Amino acid sequence: MQIDILTLFPEMIDQVSGHSILGRAQKNGLISIRAVDIRAFTEDRHRKTDEAPFGGGEGMVMTVQPVSDALRAVDAGSKRIIYPSPKGRLLDQDLIEGLAAEQDLVFLCGHYEGIDQRILDYWKPEEVSIGDYILTGGELAALVMVDAVARLIPGVLGNEASAMSESVYSGLLESPQYTRPRIYENMSVPDVLLSGDHERIRLWRYRQSLLETREKRPDLWRTYLEKAGSLDLGKKEKEILAEISGVDAFRPDRRRRGKRKDARTEKK
Ligand code: ADE
Repeated sequence: MQIDILTLFPEMIDQVSGHSILGRAQKNGLISIRAVDIRAFTEDRHRKTDEAPFGGGEGMVMTVQPVSDALRAVDAGSKRIIYPSPKGRLLDQDLIEGLAAEQDLVFLCGHYEGIDQRILDYWKPEEVSIGDYILTGGELAALVMVDAVARLIPGVLGNEASAMSESVYSGLLESPQYTRPRIYENMSVPDVLLSGDHERIRLWRYRQSLLETREKRPDLWRTYLEKAGSLDLGKKEKEILAEISGVDAFRPDRRRRGKRKDARTEKK
């Protein structure tokens, strides 16, 4: 996958994309992330890329010419263009999955008070917000999306991803993880994880995932319960799910009474 990120701050992109899993994925030829410097395209003799807004007001607006030429240079007309913006559709995993299916992606990062509207009218990028808060520019939002897209590309993650991508687990939060030492300042690792019994460990993790999701993300929990019937759950998983969802079903008003304690004290 070729990802072009158009920005006035290419170093911001390079700093992140060269490291860790993104860096490794690039070295392995699985993705290519290119920071394209919008300023390199300006025809202004002072190399300006922004001007004060017509009609007055705060801040500066990115000008049409360098942005348009940068988009042309990456052949954006034939590609999906994403414009990170607080006005956009809220990002979620479905959108990320759609992006991950593309051959090429272009991210157009705005700064200052935004980009001249004629860019948006002509190129019609998809506006995407990563959350209801305001960032100083689109770069961090673009990197969030690139990171989430990259980990879906086959080969980018090792085996780490496989368990959680099983449909049984989709929509659930991950179970807690432990590593050495077995005991640290009187806090020990749950015995089951040291048992070597893979079936018991698998079921323990499923139970923990259910408990974590019910406790921390009731919205995801409700969605999971709605679709549970269509999941390929084994007999044991069904029993665990019935047990844990039953608690809610029998006492539907418990969430309104404030913080629940049961998830912590239930069988761990
Ligand atoms: N640019 C500024 N704020 C943003 C946000 N919340 N999401 C995406 N791009 C942005």
